[in-house]
Amino acid sequence: MSDSLVAPTAAPARHLVSPSDLDLPLVESLLALASDMERQGQSPAQAPLRGRIMASVFYEPSTRTRFSFEAAMLRLGGQVISVESAATGSSAAKGESLEDAVRIIGGYADLIVLRHPEIGAAERAARVSPVPLVNAGDGAGHHPTQALLDLYTIKKECGRLDHLRIVMSGDLKFGRTARSLALLLARYPGNQLTLVSPDELRLGEDVRHQLHRTGVSIRDERDLSAAAAGADVLYQTRIQRERFASVTEYDQVRSVSRVDAALMRRLPEHAIVMHPLPRLDEIDESVDSDPRAAYFRQARNGLFVRMAVLYWLAMGT
Ligand code: NCD
Repeated sequence: MSDSLVAPTAAPARHLVSPSDLDLPLVESLLALASDMERQGQSPAQAPLRGRIMASVFYEPSTRTRFSFEAAMLRLGGQVISVESAATGSSAAKGESLEDAVRIIGGYADLIVLRHPEIGAAERAARVSPVPLVNAGDGAGHHPTQALLDLYTIKKECGRLDHLRIVMSGDLKFGRTARSLALLLARYPGNQLTLVSPDELRLGEDVRHQLHRTGVSIRDERDLSAAAAGADVLYQTRIQRERFASVTEYDQVRSVSRVDAALMRRLPEHAIVMHPLPRLDEIDESVDSDPRAAYFRQARNGLFVRMAVLYWLAMGT
């Protein structure tokens, strides 16, 4: 390991399941480490995770999260074993429990990255996992590494993580990335969150309750255009079709709050547009060429942030 990598200062937690596993010093250490990873180029010369194996176990579809975790592990010199459709391509199809699968996989790998459609699945898995486990999304629960890469992106693009006006738009009920990010942004002073969603997709009371306890300013707003006019960061999200009970319910809300050329005219010049991706029609493709469109840069940042997370978890064992 190169001397220039900053070692995280806080005591290592064994698992990363939700934002509550990340206190502010640890968040700051991980962001600094990610920045070192980015500065060093994509493959640190000394391959610090050589000889370690990461298992990526995905019961739900993924492009960015799985590929960036796997690329991160390979770039750190480690190796990867994976199942991309664990619901059908693992013994889950024979009825094996998640807990048993994790016990077994933890005997083969040094780290587990898990994505699962049920809220709380990562916490259940972490309870029995013999090795560090990262939640790569548990249904409409949390997605802590996405929240970290979102913070990394905001810091890089806006120069700070405090005293920002952040507008979150779209599916704030089922969208786990917005839920996790709101909780991390609330750790920094002076941030103002404006939440734009139809009533059916309002941010859940569980997260609101935690936000209220931090004292962060939260405001609900129906009109994205009005909210955008005062934003530093516009965080757009996909309506999570797969979590709706019926197509009719999805169709009723699918076209709310689009980011298009007209919306971009309302957005301040210094502001950025983020999206965890994949995007459907909630951001018009004409927006992509606007320098304020940060979502592809954001996705790329996932590599460095996941390198930092893997390094931190692997070195803590
Ligand atoms: C998100 C997810 O899976 O929660 N994607 C991602 O990880 N970048 C967002 C989404 O699927 O809409």
